[in-house]
Amino acid sequence: MTSPVSVSFAETDLDALAEAPGRVAVFVPSDGRLSPSARRVNRLTKGALTRMVERGALDKLKPGDLITLAWPSGLAAEALDVVVLARNATVEESRRAGVALGRVKGDKALLVLGDPLRHPVDVLLGAVLRAYEFTTHKTAETKPAGGLTLMVGNPAAIEAAAGPVLSVAEGVFLTRDLVNEPANHLTTTEFAARIATMADLGLKISVLEEKDMAKLGMGALLSVGHGSISPSKLVVMEWQGGAKGEAPLALVGKGVIFDTGGISMKPAAGMEDMTMDMGGAGVVTGVMHILARRKAQANVVGLVGLVENMVSDRATRPGDVVTSMKGDTIEVINTDAEGRLVLADVLWYAQEKYKPRGIIDLATLTGAIIIGLGHETAGVFSNDDALCKAFLKAAEAEGEAAWRMPMGAVYDEKLASQIADMRNVGGGREAGSITAAQFLKRFVRADMPWVHLDIAGVASVKADTPYAPKGASGWGVMALNRLVAEMIEPG
Ligand code: BES
Ligand code: MN
Ligand code: ZN
Repeated sequence: MTSPVSVSFAETDLDALAEAPGRVAVFVPSDGRLSPSARRVNRLTKGALTRMVERGALDKLKPGDLITLAWPSGLAAEALDVVVLARNATVEESRRAGVALGRVKGDKALLVLGDPLRHPVDVLLGAVLRAYEFTTHKTAETKPAGGLTLMVGNPAAIEAAAGPVLSVAEGVFLTRDLVNEPANHLTTTEFAARIATMADLGLKISVLEEKDMAKLGMGALLSVGHGSISPSKLVVMEWQGGAKGEAPLALVGKGVIFDTGGISMKPAAGMEDMTMDMGGAGVVTGVMHILARRKAQANVVGLVGLVENMVSDRATRPGDVVTSMKGDTIEVINTDAEGRLVLADVLWYAQEKYKPRGIIDLATLTGAIIIGLGHETAGVFSNDDALCKAFLKAAEAEGEAAWRMPMGAVYDEKLASQIADMRNVGGGREAGSITAAQFLKRFVRADMPWVHLDIAGVASVKADTPYAPKGASGWGVMALNRLVAEMIEPG
């Protein structure tokens, strides 16, 4: 994965600060009361910081905003980044300040005076997350980033605290790399191969091939992939960090490596975006990577249905009837409503095989959720208030916006079929995200706590977001990692 910044830690040494090449960043609270390290910078620069404060330069700035002084006198550095941040800034403010530093990244080394801060590690996380770039297919040589050094009084302690946090960034980057990767590179086979390398982290990886899924009767999932030369696969990642025999949490992801729409083909304009239709599977993979990396004390199983929705003489036709693993028959009215067909079988398999304590699925499922919530907020659907609340709380704490949507029997009626147990679309365009969720609910046992996350709007975004440049965001990775920590892990 593309890890953009190398991070190191150094003990506070105010002489080394004067000699540091590249850039230096110092935090100044909006009330202008300088910390000891900021006072030292102030002295070296012959009062630059007090001049900024006294002339009101910081007055209109928010926590995390920054002013850059070029070639400051008294420092060897080429630039001094003065970042507005109070000693007791919140986690969110600290990350935003890091983001500001991530944006100014370049090939120059960056020395960050982290001392007065309560959350120096979150500054680091913000800087690292925002510095991400997807450069795999750029042939021009990219200059290696200069690296970030955090200068603090107790570097060993901060370094230890930073370990798990940087493993979170690594998982987010894995997700972003997968989601950004075009479908001719990230085939189902390549996706499965990348997951297989995670066995090195202690994850148990298993793969159901088409013949295995056929034996299990997964006619819904298989009907989506059989128009493609890329073979359908169901990949399972098991992390056993909790008590033996304790029921796992199941994370299920839609992994449509490309969605042409099938015979109900999508229009040409914007179809290239459907390379991100494996976003749910990308998030599940990133989360499992983190759990293994930080040796989470929890049992979690990740399941991703990897298929390609293609057009060919073997592709499913509108009007075809397929039989799911559960046994229910489905009339495929629209081959572009394929994600729910994949999830139907993966959800059922997850329950039959792993008897989980709960299931969270993620899917770039409907365009309708983008109409409802935009690219800012994911749609949340659930049959269980407790699991749903726990997820929403974790998402809020990580700044990953999510909003619960309604479900209900009246929406379910729209799925009635003339000739089969159900059809795969709800009729008109109304409540398209809800009818999709109702469809999934038919494949979740009544007593199984379940949350469905429709991430069609948030998985990949055309404009920069706070923590990512445009493209894949990694939305949900940090929330799910936190949910596992808060809901399952001891202490
Ligand atoms: N992958 C799409 C949903 C999507 C749309 C994701 C835009 C990201 C951005 C999904 O498979 C789909 O095509 N859904 C249809 C459902 C419809 C046919 C009932 C849709 O939303 O139009
Ligand atoms: Mn589709
Ligand atoms: Zn799709």
